[in-house]
Amino acid sequence: MQCLQNGLKLFVLIACALINGATSADNQYSRDFIPRESVHVKEGHCHDDQTKLNRLEDVRRLMHEKKLDAYIICNVNENLGKLKPHDRRLDSISGFSGRIGTAVITLDKAALWTDGRTFQSAIDDVDCGWTIYRKGGSNSTSLVDWVYDNTVDGSSVGACPYLTSLVWWENFQTIFKEMSIKFIPVYEDLIDLIWTKNRAPLPNSQIYIQPLQFAGETWQAKINRTIQKMAERDADVLVLTNLDEIAWLFNLRARDFPFDPYFISFCIINAKNGVISLYLVNAEERLASTVDSSGLRLYQFLNTSVVGTCVRPTCKKNTRIYTNGNMDTCEKINNIATEPVHRTLCVDVREYNPSTFKDDVSKASRDNRVRKVWVSWSCSEAFAEEIPQEKLILDHTPPMALKAAKNEAELEGIKNSTLRDSVFLTTYFAGLEKRMKNGDTLITKDLEVEIKKLRQNELYNNGPSGVSLLGSGPMTQHLFPKITDDIVTENDIFLFDMGSQYLDGTTDIARCFVFGTPNERQKDIYTRLLMTQINLAMKTFEAGTTGRDLDSDDVREPLREIGVHFPHEIGHMLAAHGAIVEGPALISNITEDWRSDVPRDRHIFECRKCKKPQDVAKIPNWSEYVLEEGMVFSNEPSFYGKGEFGMRLENTMFITTGQCEKPCFAFRQLVFLPYEPNLIKPELFSDHQKSWLKDYYGMIEQLVIPQLQARNDSTAIAWLLNRTNVTFLNN
Ligand SMILES: *[C@@H]1O[C@H](CO)[C@@H](O)[C@H](O)[C@H]1NC(C)=O
Ligand SMILES: *[C@@H]1O[C@H](CO)[C@@H](O)[C@H](O)[C@H]1NC(C)=O
Ligand SMILES: *[C@@H]1O[C@H](CO)[C@@H](O)[C@H](O)[C@H]1NC(C)=O
Ligand SMILES: *[C@@H]1O[C@H](CO)[C@@H](O)[C@H](O)[C@H]1NC(C)=O
Ligand SMILES: *[C@@H]1O[C@H](CO)[C@@H](O)[C@H](O)[C@H]1NC(C)=O
Ligand SMILES: *[C@@H]1O[C@H](CO)[C@@H](O)[C@H](O)[C@H]1NC(C)=O
Ligand SMILES: *[C@@H]1O[C@H](CO)[C@@H](O)[C@H](O)[C@H]1NC(C)=O
Ligand SMILES: *[C@@H]1O[C@H](CO)[C@@H](O)[C@H](O)[C@H]1NC(C)=O
Ligand SMILES: *[C@@H]1O[C@H](CO)[C@@H](O)[C@H](O)[C@H]1NC(C)=O
Repeated sequence: MQCLQNGLKLFVLIACALINGATSADNQYSRDFIPRESVHVKEGHCHDDQTKLNRLEDVRRLMHEKKLDAYIICNVNENLGKLKPHDRRLDSISGFSGRIGTAVITLDKAALWTDGRTFQSAIDDVDCGWTIYRKGGSNSTSLVDWVYDNTVDGSSVGACPYLTSLVWWENFQTIFKEMSIKFIPVYEDLIDLIWTKNRAPLPNSQIYIQPLQFAGETWQAKINRTIQKMAERDADVLVLTNLDEIAWLFNLRARDFPFDPYFISFCIINAKNGVISLYLVNAEERLASTVDSSGLRLYQFLNTSVVGTCVRPTCKKNTRIYTNGNMDTCEKINNIATEPVHRTLCVDVREYNPSTFKDDVSKASRDNRVRKVWVSWSCSEAFAEEIPQEKLILDHTPPMALKAAKNEAELEGIKNSTLRDSVFLTTYFAGLEKRMKNGDTLITKDLEVEIKKLRQNELYNNGPSGVSLLGSGPMTQHLFPKITDDIVTENDIFLFDMGSQYLDGTTDIARCFVFGTPNERQKDIYTRLLMTQINLAMKTFEAGTTGRDLDSDDVREPLREIGVHFPHEIGHMLAAHGAIVEGPALISNITEDWRSDVPRDRHIFECRKCKKPQDVAKIPNWSEYVLEEGMVFSNEPSFYGKGEFGMRLENTMFITTGQCEKPCFAFRQLVFLPYEPNLIKPELFSDHQKSWLKDYYGMIEQLVIPQLQARNDSTAIAWLLNRTNVTFLNN
């Protein structure tokens, strides 16, 4: 299980991309953990710190000057991706520190819309004077209806087009028009105008190259394939704003974020004139910086000049350069082509600046020769509005689709890094058990620090890949356990769910233990989670299958049998040394209101005040994306038992061709860590499940034991052999 900052699990990195207020989930989890309250007016507990309140008043002063009756704040940045401290605009005026939230302020009111997981922390965090609405709450009102109720006829509502997705912008526009409310673009965000002091700058961490040995394909070849995909849809210009796509495309990484090895950037690929533009923070300085151990500099790697400008080949008199893909032609002014020249790709590097980028999108889009311009679902209105409607393609971009299926080198790196992590964890867990048996006092918080530190000694380790989910006893019942100074107890569940970044791959692994004597309930739940995990791991499927098809009832059957349900996907995609959760696919058939990748966004756009129902634009479901060979997924059945305990078992696996009568796909395992025999009730297993486990244990012995022998770790070898001994399955 992984999650983005602030422990919020998000799959669609799109503006305020919240979810569909569809059917309120009638399941145990939502009854147990989602607050019943649907509206909360924060009265007492004003923050002692007056700064945020003052800023809110400053924004209202600006609204007054600009004759705005309301201002909408989508809690996003210009890349519509993960938030950096610099991007916490909503926090800077409200105290709300979460990610999932959309706000409106009027001259005398302030309201925030959030979901079931974030609702309580929003109540705790926001300053007095704010009203908080929970998505799907029965007494809740949608954002647009609230605006209607709290403004007078003919009023003006503003929002910043840089900080609103194209899809959301169009929805607001349609609905406000219907309500006779003026919807006004505010190009300079009002919070940016007043939040000038005590604001973190944009990060610009060291950029490094993802070596060819791990990337498996040069950036030039990736651009080449991207341009071919563009050509299939008559697209001459591609506008990239997703950081994961840009990092993958150029084989570059950095640490601008605590977990994702990405850097803040934009990119335009113009196949018509052959110009590839990359926008970086502190471009000049970074161009000159070294990007590998041999001293290679970024500008050299990108085949550009030290100031980031490409020199174009020159043509003879009366001819001019004409470019298509990476082929230049000197054409006569009257359009008769002469000899083509094959040109090496060069990248023009410019300073990251949303308004320059907007101008450049505009220039490229308005070129008469350019047929179509392609943007992703998470492109902001400010950029998309520069593209004439008839030229716009709004879809997953070629890099998004191309990077989904990992190539051989990437898969090898992912196999290597996940095996290395498995060996490390075998050693660690064996030692942990020994310490527990010795009666050592182990504190969750210390273990978390210790694991992170020890993992750093592993080859190619590059820090954590996500928030640590670690806990003992009742704390484990939460989706995001707080890491406390609780002592690890003998007969409670100890939950470990921590992934790591390696230069050759990204890992995400979870296991649970009871160091003393487990009770029947613990054993029953553990066994059924394992059976569910095996059910998914054993699946074979035909071409055309989606992630929704795989999260089928038979997979979750062992849990359903006892009325247990976990309200999230069973598997998310992982990048090759990148984000722990990436698109465009997801193994999920979940429709719960608080958690879904379907931004139907009813809590924002549902319009009871409209005369006729409004057609609200949607973003495609990741779970409807067709699965492909080479995709890497987690497999993470989980249990959240209110007042009891929680558990998760998480492996990662990749898709390959399977052995079926007809052509099919199957999963192969990446994590090689045993399960706990003292928590398994073998009598619940089917023969298929038993034989899967035996095969898996055979692979563990084959792959892990030699590495433990190389480390002379006899404790870990004994620990492992005790678990991979399958005699108990035959009884
Ligand atoms: C909804 O509002 C009514 C009337 O204000 C109140 O009695 C009820 O408790 C509220 N229900 C919820 C779930 O907040
Ligand atoms: C780009 O693709 C073309 C056509 O497939 C090929 O001829 C060329 O060598 C490729 N260039 C690179 C850098 O891969
Ligand atoms: C780009 O690469 C080509 C071929 O390797 C080389 O000849 C050229 O000098 C490079 N240009 C720059 C600006 O580095
Ligand atoms: C993966 O590990 C094997 C065995 O250690 C090694 O030979 C191979 O070079 C590694 N692959 C990569 C891409 O580093
Ligand atoms: C997905 O869920 C829906 C609604 O619960 C159900 O009707 C459908 O059969 C499920 N799909 C699969 C593949 O199990
Ligand atoms: C996405 O999936 C949900 C749940 O299965 C469904 O209600 C919704 O209509 C789907 N959205 C799209 C755009 O197909
Ligand atoms: C493992 O132990 C053997 C024999 O005691 C020793 O020769 C070898 O150097 C050790 N290897 C490591 C990696 O410690
Ligand atoms: C594994 O270790 C436990 C605890 O020491 C012991 O009870 C059990 O019999 C061992 N199992 C095997 C298969 O050796
Ligand atoms: C496996 O465990 C059984 C008892 O549980 C023991 O008799 C047997 O020797 C063990 N096998 C191996 C290979 O250790």
